This record gives sequence, structure tokens and C-alpha cells, in this order.
Amino acid sequence: MDLILHSKPTLGNKEIKVVSEVIASGHIAQGQTVSLFEQSVAQEIGVKGAVVCSSGTAALHLTLLAMEIGAGDEVIFPSYVCSALLNAVRYVKATPVLAEADPRTHNIDPVDVKKRLSSTTKAIVVPHLFGLPADLAELTSFGIPVIEDCAQAVGARYNGRKVGAFGHAAILSFYATKVMTTGEGGMVVSNNRDLLDRIRDLREYDQKKSSAVRYNYKMTDMQAAMGLCQLEQLPNFIRRRKKIAQEYYSAFEKLPVELPLRDEGHIYYRYIIGLKEDVKPKIDALEGKGIMCAMPVYMPIHRYLKQGGYPVTEKIWKGSLSIPIYPSLKDEEISRVTHEVSNLLGN
Ligand SMILES: Cc1ncc(COP(=O)(O)O)c(C=O)c1O
Repeated sequence: MDLILHSKPTLGNKEIKVVSEVIASGHIAQGQTVSLFEQSVAQEIGVKGAVVCSSGTAALHLTLLAMEIGAGDEVIFPSYVCSALLNAVRYVKATPVLAEADPRTHNIDPVDVKKRLSSTTKAIVVPHLFGLPADLAELTSFGIPVIEDCAQAVGARYNGRKVGAFGHAAILSFYATKVMTTGEGGMVVSNNRDLLDRIRDLREYDQKKSSAVRYNYKMTDMQAAMGLCQLEQLPNFIRRRKKIAQEYYSAFEKLPVELPLRDEGHIYYRYIIGLKEDVKPKIDALEGKGIMCAMPVYMPIHRYLKQGGYPVTEKIWKGSLSIPIYPSLKDEEISRVTHEVSNLLGN
């Protein structure tokens, strides 16, 4: 019985060819291919510019620095998200302020954000979790800069327009199992050219006239070549994700579970099935059938920080089952997933 992985990059001969070409050229570090990758992603999202970085975390770190956010400032973000956000906020010594999740979308809850705003709130980081756009209209209405986190939502749409163009800036991640990949990698996109210039300056240390602290958060041309190749395939990747999601909706509609919110702009980076009970025994049972599933967030941030009072996040976290969904998932694998999940979760 072949194992069906929970997530996997979609790579092929094209990627091997373009990366080999960069190696053969002799110029492998950051160069023209990185610049082309930045311009291409900016164009795809519909923003004025982009700065590539070594990871999504690095992209958020530099964005916070370039916004001059530091000690004594508060940054609001959801508890229900990976710890990368907490790390970036800690790098700049700002205070993390965690917001609750919306029970239906699992995204950051604007009503709860509003309650947590203070005179020292300097930014709200808004992940479009699992590929479903957050409530940007509400979240951008508070007069506080919004940093969109599109790590899981490259190509997703809010009101018909690509996410990443609504906030003060947006960060992307190109980690191996993200929507499109460069192995590791990230990017900041924005319409604010001054902000992007500051981020570009902070990203690299060489040939500078001052000794201000700078970083080495660059990406290589080898990775950028892979990124360009993946970007070309992005519409196909998203089409395939939506097709698999449709199959899952049809297969699971009669199960006594909660299925993901249907939304035109959703790209189904993850397909989350909501259970009333703890998901861990279900994950073990599916693993026994050769299907790797996961809790989509390893641990909510309020637990790391030992803070109480996030009942919605707790409930979602414990009851969310993430099943395999990625462009290279084969038809027969989809059938196996629908069959085993239906058997397990049916009455
Ligand atoms: C929502 C979200 N934001 C940020 C990140 C951080 O990206 P990276 O792993 O490229 O640093 C991730 C990665 O898992 C993520 O899922």
C-alpha cells in the first residue's frame, strides 16, 4: 500500500531544466533571475513592486523593521497560526497581541481585533489561512496598517482581486510545500516603493556606506528560476486544487462534519474537515490506512505564551482535520482519500 503524503511539492522536469541552466551559467547567487522573479510576482498580484527574501519569516521581519516597529509597539495577529509570526514580532522586540479566530472561516476575527486595538498598536498581521481570504474590508477599516500574510494564499482572490494588494504590504512564503515553491523562500509585495526600498536595503549588507545593522536574507538565482517556473504553472496548480476540493465536497456532503467555507476566491491550500471531537485518533486511524493527515496548525500561539481565553481557537485547533490536497495528488489517491475518510467519519 503506497503512502499518500499530507503535503508535497509539485515539481517536474521543467524545474530541473531551469535550475540546471542557472547552474550552467555560472551565476548562481542573487542576480537577474531574482529581479525577474520579483517583477513577475508583483505583476501577478497587481502591486507596484516586490522584494524577494530567504523565507516568509525573513520577509515579515524586514517588513516590521522597515515600518520602524520595535520595543513598546504592539502587533496584532491571530493565535491560530504557525509560530513564524510570533518569531518575527519577537525579532523586533515588539509586543505580540493575539486575536481570536472566526469560528466559520478560521481566519482572524475582526470583531475581536477591534477590541484589542490600543494607542500602541502599530500593525495587524492578517494571514489568509488555508487559502481562504480574510475579511479585508473590515480589517483595513481600523486605520492601522495591515500586513497581509499570503504564505498560504498566493493567487487567492478577495472581491475578485488577488490578495496581497490590499494591505500596507504583504508577505509570501515559497517553502517546499506551499502553493508555489523555491525550496525555501519568501517575498514582500507592496504598492509603497519607499517601504520596498528600505526592505531591499535591509536584506543585504555588502557595499553600504553606513554600518547600520543589515541582514543576509537573499535568495539565489537557482531558487528564483524554480520560482518563475512554478509561477507559470500557478493557474494550473490552483485549478487542480479547486477540482480536488470539489470532489471532496461531493464525497463528504452527507457526513456529520463541517466542511470548509465555499468561496470563489478560496484556493484550498488546505482542505479542513471540522469535527466535534479530538482529531488525533482520526489522524492515527487514517495513517493506519496509508493516508497522512494533520492538524493544520501545530499549536496555537496562546498556548506557547501560556495565555488563556481563546475558546474559539481552542475548539477549531482540536477539531480540525487537514487531509491531503495538492496538485500532484493523483485521481486514484483522491478516491482512496474520499473512501477512507468517508468510512471513518460516517456514522
Ligand atoms: C501563515 C504563515 N505565515 C508565515 C509563514 C512563514 O513562512 P516561512 O516558512 O517561509 O518562513 C508560514 C509558513 O509555514 C505560514 O504558514
